[in-house]
Amino acid sequence: MTGNSNPWWAGAVVYQVYPRSFADSDGDGIGDLPGLISRLGYLAELGVDAIWLSPFYPSPLHDGGYDVSDYTDVDPRLGTLADFDTLVKKAKDHDIRVIVDLVPNHCSIEHPLFKKALAAAPGSPERDLFIFRDGRGADGAEPPNNWPSRFGGRAWTRVPDGQWYLHLFDSSQPDWNWRDPRVPAMFQEILRFWLDRGIGGFRVDVAHGLFKDPALADVDDPTLTNRPSAYYHRPEVHGVYRTWRAILDSYPADGFPGARTAIGEVWADSADTLLPYLAPGELPQVFNFELLMAGWSAPALRAAIDATYAFTDGSRAPWVIGNHDVVRPVTRWGVAAARAAALLLLALPGSAYVYQGEELGLPEVTDIPDAARQDPTFRRTGGKEVGRDGSRVPLPWDDDRGSSFGFSRTSSASSPAPPWLPQPADWGKHSVVAEAADPDSFLALYREALRIRRSHPALGTGLSGSDSMRWLEAPADALYFARDPGFLFLANLGTTPLRLPEFREVLLASGPLLPGPTGLSDGSLPPDTAVWLST
Ligand code: NOJ
Repeated sequence: MTGNSNPWWAGAVVYQVYPRSFADSDGDGIGDLPGLISRLGYLAELGVDAIWLSPFYPSPLHDGGYDVSDYTDVDPRLGTLADFDTLVKKAKDHDIRVIVDLVPNHCSIEHPLFKKALAAAPGSPERDLFIFRDGRGADGAEPPNNWPSRFGGRAWTRVPDGQWYLHLFDSSQPDWNWRDPRVPAMFQEILRFWLDRGIGGFRVDVAHGLFKDPALADVDDPTLTNRPSAYYHRPEVHGVYRTWRAILDSYPADGFPGARTAIGEVWADSADTLLPYLAPGELPQVFNFELLMAGWSAPALRAAIDATYAFTDGSRAPWVIGNHDVVRPVTRWGVAAARAAALLLLALPGSAYVYQGEELGLPEVTDIPDAARQDPTFRRTGGKEVGRDGSRVPLPWDDDRGSSFGFSRTSSASSPAPPWLPQPADWGKHSVVAEAADPDSFLALYREALRIRRSHPALGTGLSGSDSMRWLEAPADALYFARDPGFLFLANLGTTPLRLPEFREVLLASGPLLPGPTGLSDGSLPPDTAVWLST
């Protein structure tokens, strides 16, 4: 709820669904769209404004679906286009928008156009849709340049006729050649395809990629970087976003789903690099990874928040504390800290993204057997990096081990296939059913926080716009800010209890508060605890 004339997305709480791990309707061990549809009531009760769906397209799943072999269909294991349409329609019944993940930097080696390129001769128009080059060295056995793959190893793979193709990620993800006009034209059609189905917008994968310096020269520093380079943040990419913005804006802003958004996954080394993506007529939003990257310390988090305000606000750059690419907050920061962080996330002005399972306080699963690991990072680094599977383990819905903790449902009496990633034996204790029955659970905290956020005039974008927060004086190891009207946020990241300020009412606390001699009015806030107060 924005409570003012801002577009819906400016203050939205968006729930990220990783479809293969959310809910499995047919017992094959893989989550699917009908499973998600069957659980929309849960998301409505949680109180989110939109869902961002990680890729559900046909894919050989070499990178969890971020290797797309058809941009305008649904993977048969996950459902059909008709299921997608049902999802959009039923989500609308709950006032929930659907945001689709668009993957424009690369596709899958199974994409028909890449297969055609492989079958065609070097120098052919088919190859020109991708970045094929001859190798270096006497027999071309050395890659064309020294660029690294984000998942480890080189960014080039050799094909049988001796040429190499570029892939900034896994070898199963060939990069498109955005300098060939057929590529931008194709993506414009893809955008329209999904917008015509009534979606609220896109999340744009590796939005700082797409264009590469045509010289394809060696980089001075072949270690991974988010700096502007020969392969990231090329100026030409902004022309693409201007075109896309015009397409988004050509859909009506009134009614449902309202103004369409596109939120770029832009990893940048500085605000100066990030800001151009938000220029007038470009992307409505970019992710704000500042909180996610900060350590659990008051100075670090305060710096993260100030860094955001130095260039924009939380409506243009939504706050996040987790996603499918990083270690879950409970494991990264600790249980109490993750609860306090949830209250911080949802109290900051603007929009917030919540990754599925964060509302259950799911920990990272750290003991997945090597043989079960799926993330290409694990393989490409020879196991040096375990990869991201630990944050993608299928959700526990109830305590029934026979149905993979309610993740898999079957219509027959037969047991479902094991989930695509193994769940820990004690997963049931984090389940929706268990937590819904416990007033002190993570789920209870998130539900209550979202309920208050929807009705409190100071929260979300707030009445006075996205800049409506004021730091208040606080000890070095505390965060303390006010939002108008009458809202205080206080978090204690130190080691000793912190005296509560004067307040009228405790709206919500991430853990028990410590009463003083006359009760909470002279009480204190324990370490690793946050509180929402009204004044
Ligand atoms: C970012 C996505 O979030 C991640 O999961 C994926 O592996 C890479 N982009 C490549 O598409």
